[in-house]
Amino acid sequence: MTRREDAVLRVGEQEYTLPVIVGSEGEIAVDINRLRGASGLVTFDRGFANTAETKSAITFLDGEQGILRYRGYPIEQLAEQATFLEVAYLLANGRLPSRPQLDDYADEITHHTMLREDMKHLFEAFPKEAHPMHILASAISALATYYPDALDPGDPWAKDISMKRLLAKVPTMVAWSFRYGRNQPFVYPRNDLDYVANFLNMMFSFPTENYEVDPTVSKALNVLFILHADHEQNCSATTVRVVGSGHANLFSSVAAGVHALSGPLHGGANQGVVEMLESIVGAGGGIGPFVQRAKDKDDPFRLMGFGHRVYKNFDPRAQIIKRYAQEVLAKLDTADPLLEVAMQLEEVALGDDYFIEKKLYPNVDFYSGIIYRAMGFPTELFTVLFAIGRLPGWIAQWHEMQQDPTTRIGRPRQIYVGEPKRDWVAMEDRSA
Ligand code: ACO
Repeated sequence: MTRREDAVLRVGEQEYTLPVIVGSEGEIAVDINRLRGASGLVTFDRGFANTAETKSAITFLDGEQGILRYRGYPIEQLAEQATFLEVAYLLANGRLPSRPQLDDYADEITHHTMLREDMKHLFEAFPKEAHPMHILASAISALATYYPDALDPGDPWAKDISMKRLLAKVPTMVAWSFRYGRNQPFVYPRNDLDYVANFLNMMFSFPTENYEVDPTVSKALNVLFILHADHEQNCSATTVRVVGSGHANLFSSVAAGVHALSGPLHGGANQGVVEMLESIVGAGGGIGPFVQRAKDKDDPFRLMGFGHRVYKNFDPRAQIIKRYAQEVLAKLDTADPLLEVAMQLEEVALGDDYFIEKKLYPNVDFYSGIIYRAMGFPTELFTVLFAIGRLPGWIAQWHEMQQDPTTRIGRPRQIYVGEPKRDWVAMEDRSA
């Protein structure tokens, strides 16, 4: 980071000099850390839309140009060449692993995939119809109760083993919550399978017959996980960082991130997209009324899978996923009317003034659900698949924050707009 000329803020007659920070890709920030101390002023920024809370070396994205890079490597290259665990290693360590490093890493992850046997009862405690995101957040929280000796974020051994345990155990948790909801037997992890194939096996195999992992499915899921692996300071990563900034352990911090991801404006949108496409098909397939509703200011309806806080041109992940959706459906020989409707919707929206003016483009969630459907995942599992993919990012963000000596507890200010001081009123004197 280099220093540029300082910025000057004038408020009334007073001037305040503020340092300027420049990132390695030329991003410029005005450092307001000392502004309140010097002036009593705070800044007001809804949704942190204009606030950089941290310096980070993990992910670079340029929303105007549709660029996304993990540790400097373009997402397009990683999606094409890497395995998910290779990307997880890259995000956590800042460099691509050598062959022996990757083999050791994969071996360690593989040997932590089992859950403690008594943890089975945790899944059995949930209602069968529980949403898998809620179960996942609870199960990740529960990990802290199984490994109390490895929770101290200041202990390098504890951090390392927790990061590996989390990455290893989440697919098992997801598969087991799915199996429990279906009254199907739990399938134990298999060490002879890679990360993605093992997950598919735990999800879809039966003890009574052989299950062959379809290479088309496993390749596409590997790509989808990589595309979701990190996205710098998004809602869930920020949640993980804020919770972790109070020195909460990794499991508690990431469980909070899972909750953040579950909302329909964030990761929950992939489920929302398919539900929206289903209602369009159910209503006869006409997209016009849905586009009209999305444009109506008085209607809260939004086109799910459209728009992004940062991408104002295109979402590079959506472009890769669209291509994969077409390929996967063709290879699996599955025609899905939802894909047709999705492509029509994209075409209409991209040519519509409302969406053009507001720079609303398909985001990562727009096509991913269509592939998940073709792979046999039920709709309510889509956001959980996003969560598996996002784990390396949450872990890397938490780790970077814990290592950074300048980290401070996340604690924003507010502008109080409530009542001024007033005195207590006895019950008999209060009006209705
Ligand atoms: N359909 C219709 N109108 C939209 C949409 C949409 N999908 N998205 C944004 N707009 C409109 C808003 O109404 C607003 O209009 P206004 O300026 O007239 O008030 C304008 O575009 C800007 O939208 P904001 O909500 O202010 O943008 P913000 O950056 O806060 O939100 C978000 C981004 C949450 C992604 C939003 O575009 C949205 O709700 N999209 C649908 C849900 C979705 O797909 N979420 C997944 C995002 S990707 C991810 O998190 C993994």
